[in-house]
Amino acid sequence: MDYLQLQGSQSISGEIKISGAKNAALPLIAMSILAKNNIQISNLPNVADINTLLTLLSNLGAKCNKETNSVEIDTSKLSQTKATYDIVKTMRASILVLGPILARFGHCEVSLPGGCAIGQRPVDLHLKALEQMGATIDIKSGYIEARAPQGLKGCEIIFDKITVTGTANIVMAAALAHGKTTITNAAREPEVVQLCEILDKSGIKIDGIGTAIITVHGNGGKLIDMIDFSVIPDRIEAGTYLCAGAILNQELTITNAEPKHLGAVLSKFEEMGFGIEHTDTTISILPAEKIKPVKIITQEYPAFPTDMQAQFLALATQADGVSIIEERLFENRFMHVSELQRMGADITLNGHIATISGKSELSGADVMATDLRASSALILAGLVADGITNVHRIYHLDRGYESLETKLQNVGINIKRLKE
Ligand code: EPZ
Repeated sequence: MDYLQLQGSQSISGEIKISGAKNAALPLIAMSILAKNNIQISNLPNVADINTLLTLLSNLGAKCNKETNSVEIDTSKLSQTKATYDIVKTMRASILVLGPILARFGHCEVSLPGGCAIGQRPVDLHLKALEQMGATIDIKSGYIEARAPQGLKGCEIIFDKITVTGTANIVMAAALAHGKTTITNAAREPEVVQLCEILDKSGIKIDGIGTAIITVHGNGGKLIDMIDFSVIPDRIEAGTYLCAGAILNQELTITNAEPKHLGAVLSKFEEMGFGIEHTDTTISILPAEKIKPVKIITQEYPAFPTDMQAQFLALATQADGVSIIEERLFENRFMHVSELQRMGADITLNGHIATISGKSELSGADVMATDLRASSALILAGLVADGITNVHRIYHLDRGYESLETKLQNVGINIKRLKE
């Protein structure tokens, strides 16, 4: 297995180019199941999760012609409707093929994704909504067996909780349903907005895009003439690299970004004393006179994203004073805390609330990544820690960060990928 070795107390300067958003690309790839024509997706992030979903689609009979940052997908020969456990267990977002396969073929088997390090990750809301649309759902030997032989019918869906992939799944299922589907309490994340925009521009009329009430006018089961498109920039990758500048308290610019998607995050940087300057596609973070402590509660978009919680927790170790971070979405998303404590951070956990007393002098250590965003928090801590930090099990990192070490090397960081 690979690990990353980084030298601490570094200087950083220059520009980092942001890749396409993994969490936008995944539903957009699943959406190709609804396409009549070949679709060309550009600005695709070259990360493990994308390759996993493309492998799943190939196993179903699709032809995926992948370049480094683009793919052409031909689903005309799609013949299988079973997403097997071996693939789904490695990436729970595979659940995103459930809605499209069911809508296209009238039946589908998808392995239950199971939980992951950060929590139980149930899919009950996805299944309940599909049943409301007329599907019968059975769970047999760890598989979701869904059937809708007469197709799905549009209806009123009210999500008990806001679910990002749940909203994406139902929007895609509703695109081919008979009649219109209104989704209330829909996710408003930019990744869901892009999915709706592409479907709308491909002829599926969708009202309320970007709001909590989305209405999808289904086309009654016809495959869709899809437009080609470019994936939106990854707002979480962008926020992570801005944290790299912040934790070293030095200026750093990120390019190919979308500042509009980072409102809550940028305002937290400013609350901590950092300067933020941006154009339409670039964001610069400027040093703080004094890094101030912060209070953060993670919530659904447009509030502060849970996917930035670990990174800001690492940053808060360098603030002068006591920061409070509350994780409201996932039940177990503080696994980076014990590793940061081993590096010398002063953090106390009380249920879903972390109290971080700074400023802590961190020292380099061997640490272990446990999930995608926790790994990036350990890298950030390693940038500022004294001495060498080795971050192990970075396959977690490779799921969602394209060429992380190269991007950091390009701004002067001494980091290298080694073999255990
Ligand atoms: C998406 O996961 C993202 N993944 C996650 O990013 C992100 O953390 C999460 O949204 C929240 O923003 C992708 O987009 C591929 P949810 P998702 O359904 O859709 C509960 C990363 O780091 N819930 O919005 O699985 C659930 O337990 C990953 O890139 C149900 O109870 O999250 C959670 O408490 C990690 N029943 C809350 O809703 C359901 O049927 C939000 O989950 C579905 C969800």
